[in-house]
Amino acid sequence: MMSSTPKYFFLFCVSLCIFLFSLSKFLHYKTSFSTHSPHSAPKNKPVHLLVLSSWRSGSSFLGQIFNHRNDVFYIFEPGHPFWFSFQNEGSELLHFPLRDLLQSLFTCDVSPLHQYLPGGGKRVSELLFYAETRALCTPPTCSAFKLTDGYDHLKCKRSCMNTSLDQMGETCKTYSHVVMKTIRILDLSILLPLFRDPALDLRILHLVRDPRAIAFSRQYFYLLMDDKILLKNEGNTNITISRVMKKICKAQVDINRVAKAAEVLQGRYMAIRHEDLSNEPLKNIKKMYNFAGLHPTKDLEQWVYNVTHKEVADKNGIMTFSRDSSKVPYKWRTPMDFHLVEQIQQNCKEAMDLFGYKPAKSQIEQKNLTLDLVNKEWSLE
Ligand SMILES: *[C@@H]1O[C@H](CO)[C@@H](O)[C@H](O)[C@H]1NC(C)=O
Ligand SMILES: *[C@@H]1O[C@H](CO)[C@@H](O)[C@H](O)[C@H]1NC(C)=O
Ligand SMILES: *[C@@H]1O[C@H](CO)[C@@H](O)[C@H](O)[C@H]1NC(C)=O
Ligand SMILES: *[C@@H]1O[C@H](CO)[C@@H](O)[C@H](O)[C@H]1NC(C)=O
Repeated sequence: MMSSTPKYFFLFCVSLCIFLFSLSKFLHYKTSFSTHSPHSAPKNKPVHLLVLSSWRSGSSFLGQIFNHRNDVFYIFEPGHPFWFSFQNEGSELLHFPLRDLLQSLFTCDVSPLHQYLPGGGKRVSELLFYAETRALCTPPTCSAFKLTDGYDHLKCKRSCMNTSLDQMGETCKTYSHVVMKTIRILDLSILLPLFRDPALDLRILHLVRDPRAIAFSRQYFYLLMDDKILLKNEGNTNITISRVMKKICKAQVDINRVAKAAEVLQGRYMAIRHEDLSNEPLKNIKKMYNFAGLHPTKDLEQWVYNVTHKEVADKNGIMTFSRDSSKVPYKWRTPMDFHLVEQIQQNCKEAMDLFGYKPAKSQIEQKNLTLDLVNKEWSLE
């Protein structure tokens, strides 16, 4: 039998606990209502979405489609600091620290960054692309902005650099979706342990693009550091675009193969082609939102129209949206050298078959824009 004093004491403790719990909920509710950005704190386990892609495939644009939302905490290229710090290593080795970083950041744990960033990870400005995270450019995280201000990443770059990394972690915790995009994972099997982590609800969105269009676009970008890391383990230090493309294409095929074979990825993998996104943005954005458990917003249609029909001037090119996105997939067809086209078609045959891209058999075919080299009926299933 319990004597009466401990019994009342016990009941008192229970009541006190309930009271404190309610108070904390109430205060949290109050703060998220009065000072916070208009999204609500996550009630369930957050959704974690990783956009996997490769260089010049439109993944920055795809990332912005998620970053645009006020319920998404988005991180652009979290693996960039590693590749920058370990330029003499191969992509295979760098997969492992990147996987661990992704796992931490998905749960809003920024502590690994203290080790990886140049200044010891004190301020967000040590992350080269922090202004690509809209959540770091809104109040209360950055007081230079008012709630009614839109997302202005150039102003954010100037005004929000002193936010501490720990504050970034706290901000992240209030979002219902954490989305990251990376071009630096070339092997999906590396990520399989993350699917067994009970703290994560991970989904993979795999963005692919016509290898010929990638190769064409790559010619105008300086990617030597990345290419060295990419080809480090290929036993030949001569970096050529067709060798780089061979490796990238194989990686895209392998990612898809792992996704189809792994039980844990059932219903957690979605592939999308850059060309389909450019030709029918609204339809495909709705599909991707649905996959990520995001409801379409009221102004989605207007916003999609805006970003696919307007050039957003931006020096660093990250956010440059196309004037008319439906023309982007065919830009390589006229100017690209047919010898290079042939090389890419040879080195990327498997990827082209798998993802529905038809080879041009001659220069005449390549330059004949009536001939569609993207299979419109393509679907992975
Ligand atoms: C950030 O901090 C530095 C050094 O403490 C200071 O000089 C600078 O004015 C601050 N910038 C902003 C936008 O607060
Ligand atoms: C690299 O490969 C290209 C094309 O195959 C060749 O023309 C060039 O001579 C090679 N360079 C070296 C240093 O081997
Ligand atoms: C689309 O652009 C127009 C004109 O610049 C602007 O007034 C409107 O707010 C934009 N709508 C969305 C949803 O971005
Ligand atoms: C271009 O392709 C279309 C569709 O296959 C074909 O009908 C047409 O004859 C081709 N034009 C030339 C100049 O080869």
